[in-house]
Amino acid sequence: MVKALLLAGGKGTRLQPLTYKLPKPIVPIMGRPLLERVIMNLKSNGIDEVIISTFYKSQHIKNYFKDGQELGVKIHYVSEISPLGTGGAIKNAEKFFDDTFVVLNSDIVSDINYRELIEYHRSKDALATIAMTEVDNPSQYGVIEFDDDNYIKSFKEKPRPGESSSSWINAGVYVFQPEIFDEIPAKKAISLEKDIYPTLLQKGYRLAAYQFYGYWLDIGTVEKYTKAHKDILSRRCDFCRFDGKSEDSDNVIVAEGVKIHPEAEIIGPVYIGKNTVIEAGARVGPYSVIGENNLISKNSRIIGSILWDNVIVNDGAELINTVVVSDCCIDSNSRISHTAYINDVYTEGLQLI
Ligand code: GDD
Ligand code: MG
Repeated sequence: MVKALLLAGGKGTRLQPLTYKLPKPIVPIMGRPLLERVIMNLKSNGIDEVIISTFYKSQHIKNYFKDGQELGVKIHYVSEISPLGTGGAIKNAEKFFDDTFVVLNSDIVSDINYRELIEYHRSKDALATIAMTEVDNPSQYGVIEFDDDNYIKSFKEKPRPGESSSSWINAGVYVFQPEIFDEIPAKKAISLEKDIYPTLLQKGYRLAAYQFYGYWLDIGTVEKYTKAHKDILSRRCDFCRFDGKSEDSDNVIVAEGVKIHPEAEIIGPVYIGKNTVIEAGARVGPYSVIGENNLISKNSRIIGSILWDNVIVNDGAELINTVVVSDCCIDSNSRISHTAYINDVYTEGLQLI
């Protein structure tokens, strides 16, 4: 049975301020932690045992997923005291793997079919298979050159201009044979992308490249985080397929317990999470995601924005292309646009329903 290792230890610096209180893998995508959605996708591909490799805010991840029983999977944890890098994190999880296994970065929104990827890996008789996606600007990624038989010729992490002419990049999804562990030094911080892959190629190991043509986005920045939501809402991406689909042609998805005043206006595509209240004269949407237990007060406007949970938007406030983290309170008649909003002052004692 194939197991998966999820690399979830990064600090998520580029996603601040969303990652001040949460580690990146727990940041909600359509109201549920990204990693939960990844695990559900793995499960639907027959992978029901995962190992999560943590460092930054480990406890948060463990408290959320526990042993995985609620999601119907088995979850183990390997935690680092100081960050080991992506290579070191893989080596650190060695005891869990004695057969072909999958490794994933934990900030990827994609509808990749892991079953197909594993089959492909088996057909290529390689030590590792790297899933690749094609992007316009590869400079922030691991850039891959490969031959006509889809074996990798070079791997350059975040190359300088002119260092690589390929537009195919490492999608942060791999299949490995357990022999990979012999090639990673123990108890040492080391990067899979900067150190291990180039060394494996130098030593003549066979690394296969899998060209993935479906939806792929890493949510490493706030801009990409909001883009992922827009793509999911406009159904360009199937990442959230387990939520069920709205039959509504306007693409308005409303969870249970939501109260919408008849004089409120909801413009799809929109998602409204459990027990949220929308008052008279409020306008919500398009391209907005409202989390659970939110209060959207009279005459407020929410456009292209993502609100997490327990947010109060007071009368007449306007939010445009903004992300508001949980437990925030937005002043009446304020106008906030293109902002990642985080505000500690009102976190306690919210009684929304
Ligand atoms: N356990 C552990 N320990 N995990 C780590 C550590 C560590 O020290 N450092 C990073 N990670 C995890 C992060 O949590 C993330 O899920 C993954 O490893 C990759 O780290 P990022 O910080 O997101 O890397 P990146 O986005 O700059 O680049 C990576 O992803 C690109 C695709 O999005 C590379 O793999 C690139 O080659 C790739 O193209
Ligand atoms: Mg990343």
